[in-house]
Amino acid sequence: MKKKIFGVLLAATLTVSSLAACGGSTEAPAADAGTETEAPAADEGGSDAAADSALADKKVGVCIYQFADNFMTLFRNELESYLIAQGFSKDNIKIVDGANDQATQSGQIDSFIAEGVDVLIINPVNSSSANTITDKVVGANIPLVYINREPNADEEQRWADNNWNVCYVGCDARQSGTMQGEIIADLGLDKIDFNGNGKIDYIMIEGDPENVDAQYRTEFSVKALEDAGLEVNCLDDQVGMWDQAKGQELCANDLSKFGNDVEVVFCNNDAMALGALQAIQAAGRTVGTDIYLVGVDALTEVVQDVIDGTITGTVFNDHFSQAHSSADAAINYLNGSTNEHYIGCDYVKVTTDNAADILAKIS
Ligand code: GAL
Repeated sequence: MKKKIFGVLLAATLTVSSLAACGGSTEAPAADAGTETEAPAADEGGSDAAADSALADKKVGVCIYQFADNFMTLFRNELESYLIAQGFSKDNIKIVDGANDQATQSGQIDSFIAEGVDVLIINPVNSSSANTITDKVVGANIPLVYINREPNADEEQRWADNNWNVCYVGCDARQSGTMQGEIIADLGLDKIDFNGNGKIDYIMIEGDPENVDAQYRTEFSVKALEDAGLEVNCLDDQVGMWDQAKGQELCANDLSKFGNDVEVVFCNNDAMALGALQAIQAAGRTVGTDIYLVGVDALTEVVQDVIDGTITGTVFNDHFSQAHSSADAAINYLNGSTNEHYIGCDYVKVTTDNAADILAKIS
């Protein structure tokens, strides 16, 4: 699958974040994120199915939690091009920006219901609002595919118990956290322990703590180090809201506070890792020589950094697979078929060993 990528970094506006203790997390106010946009491209690597003319008249409503999010921009562009390749008309696919505000998104869902869309694909602003969203959408007899932000187990159980046309498409964030930890653990204590205290001294830069992705990546990256028999020392754990500029600011603060004691920087996503890299370079530190840095998503720029050695590793969050699976699930509902209520996808560890292959796949 080959696609032209037009990376455009837009200005990032930030608000403050609140402190999260090491090993835990606290709520933070919303922040706008920097964004990388990508030109929608015709699908060239996805479905074997021919475009289905019966879909041309079907209306799809897509709610994205926030357009100014690098990863969700890749996801929504792939989703749109894949839906078109399956036979939907571009005019019948409406994708709206929740601007990281649940009230805004709830209004958008009401409008889609009033317009009579045939299916909804929703990336909730707050996954804890899923219960209310589901009731509304099911009440309107519209099939619903949740993406990226997983509702809790009780909510998913309700879909099964009631036999509703509702499902979730996403990856298990525990796997991505574990892979981040393994990338670091595989280096071995001797290579990491620059200050010689026998521990892995790290800082954690978290995404939105309301998301299980942030919670699990934080927990399981550290767990993987411990499972490898390494002793850990959390110097700081802060909320960067998935945002590059916030990642830079938090990492810069920690580097000035803890200096050379910072041996590893864990970022819950690549946007924040790119920010952390800027801070690391500004502080005169060198990834791979006196500090290590890992993210999640496999943004093109980060995979190139892994090849260049300026980021230690990342984890591919397969937006192609997730976009295709969510469109396929929507099509199944429209065709009168059902779906599993949980449709998963595997993450892929990205290190210098396979970064060139991953880059070829995503660019
Ligand atoms: C994660 C992704 C982040 C951000 C987040 C939004 O899966 O790694 O970069 O997009 O979803 O919920």
